[in-house]
Amino acid sequence: MDRIRVVGGRPLNGTIRISGAKNAALPLMIASLLTDEALTLENVPRLADVNMLVRILGNHGVDYTLKGKRPGEEIQSGQTVDLRAERIVDTTAPYDLVSRMRASFWVIAPLLARMGECRVSLPGGCAIGTRPVDFLLMALERLGATIGIENGYAIARAPSGGLRGAEISFPKVTVGGTHTALMAAALADGRTTVLNAAREPEIVDLADCLNKMGARITGAGTSTIEIQGVARLHGARHAVLPDRIEAGTYAMAVAMTGGDVLLEGARADLLCGATEALEQAGAKLDGSAEGLRVRRNGNGIRPVDISTAPFPGFPTDLQAQFMALMTRASGSSRITETIFENRFMHVGELSRFGAKIRLDGDAAIVDGVPKLQGAPVMATDLRASVSLVIAALAAEGETTVNRVYHLDRGFEHLEHKLGQCGAIVERISGHG
Ligand code: UD1
Repeated sequence: MDRIRVVGGRPLNGTIRISGAKNAALPLMIASLLTDEALTLENVPRLADVNMLVRILGNHGVDYTLKGKRPGEEIQSGQTVDLRAERIVDTTAPYDLVSRMRASFWVIAPLLARMGECRVSLPGGCAIGTRPVDFLLMALERLGATIGIENGYAIARAPSGGLRGAEISFPKVTVGGTHTALMAAALADGRTTVLNAAREPEIVDLADCLNKMGARITGAGTSTIEIQGVARLHGARHAVLPDRIEAGTYAMAVAMTGGDVLLEGARADLLCGATEALEQAGAKLDGSAEGLRVRRNGNGIRPVDISTAPFPGFPTDLQAQFMALMTRASGSSRITETIFENRFMHVGELSRFGAKIRLDGDAAIVDGVPKLQGAPVMATDLRASVSLVIAALAAEGETTVNRVYHLDRGFEHLEHKLGQCGAIVERISGHG
């Protein structure tokens, strides 16, 4: 198992190119199941989760082609891929694949809409909470599907005339539920209205791509989305939007270490709640056509209370990274997690650096300390693991982060990107 070694205490200076968003790339790739023509996606990040989804889609019959790049070139430009589901050869998504990546459960929507029936393993537990799929199944039922649960699988069947447009009202904002509703309703007969829809930029990206494929979706990015179903979708070309979570993560790293970094391709408008929190903490952010410039020169980090919320609020996927930043603040901050019930596993590991954090229900109270010290630590989930890298960058001495496969799921070329800005970060391959 690979590890990452960090020698802390150096400011970050330079340019980091922001990759395509993992959380947009995954549903976009899944949308390829909706048509027998090729969907060409540009700016797809090179990540373990993307590779895993290629395997999962391949099982259903999707041909995957990596287009015209020389080895190494992807580091600068992301990859362009063709996905073509000319024929769906298998409508079962088996446990051993779905259990490795929760988002793969979303194949249920296009398989059902296109093939009229499918069998998809329930994803099972997850490191950051129970994360049920009841809202996703409810959405499909509203469109006329019958859903049964048998031996750990959701068995979904559309009525004989196919899915029918309907009103879907989510009791809670759900990103996966909204993706599922968009994909299923795109091919349903008639009009669907999604109420209390997620407003995340990744939803807008999926809707834009589906519209290029011939769907008729309006209102994405607001909490009411209208979908006029069409009989078929066709191929299209679409570039994955930049990863706001990756951009926010590096912005927090710069706020932590000090320095001056241009996050090339990052969009300030996608960071919303996180931008505000970073500025209150003492970072200076300037958006331009090139990207987002982040600076913190000399001044200390101020404590800021945050509470995670659906977009445009502070994203839960940046909560761990912000907590790492707050460990060095000049006072006490309160970090409240409202989306997932068990998303504080980084607290124990951050404490290994000398951070002072205590839990109080759904909140963590962080008492800033003047310095952190490097330590051996263990990654527990994707976003938590990068919070340990942020702490390590500011800590005195050396840190080893174990189980970095969590990082590889969602951060493209992390050590390369940080290394270019002066950090000492290296991957140690091997069995550890
Ligand atoms: C997506 C993101 C994840 C992010 C999360 C919230 C991807 C691949 N993943 O996850 O990185 O942290 O949005 O921004 O895009 N819920 C239910 N029943 C359901 C579905 C959800 O109770 O059927 C609950 C969840 O447990 C959670 C909340 O709703 O408490 C929001 O979850 P949701 O937005 O669906 O998260 P994901 O789509 O799984």
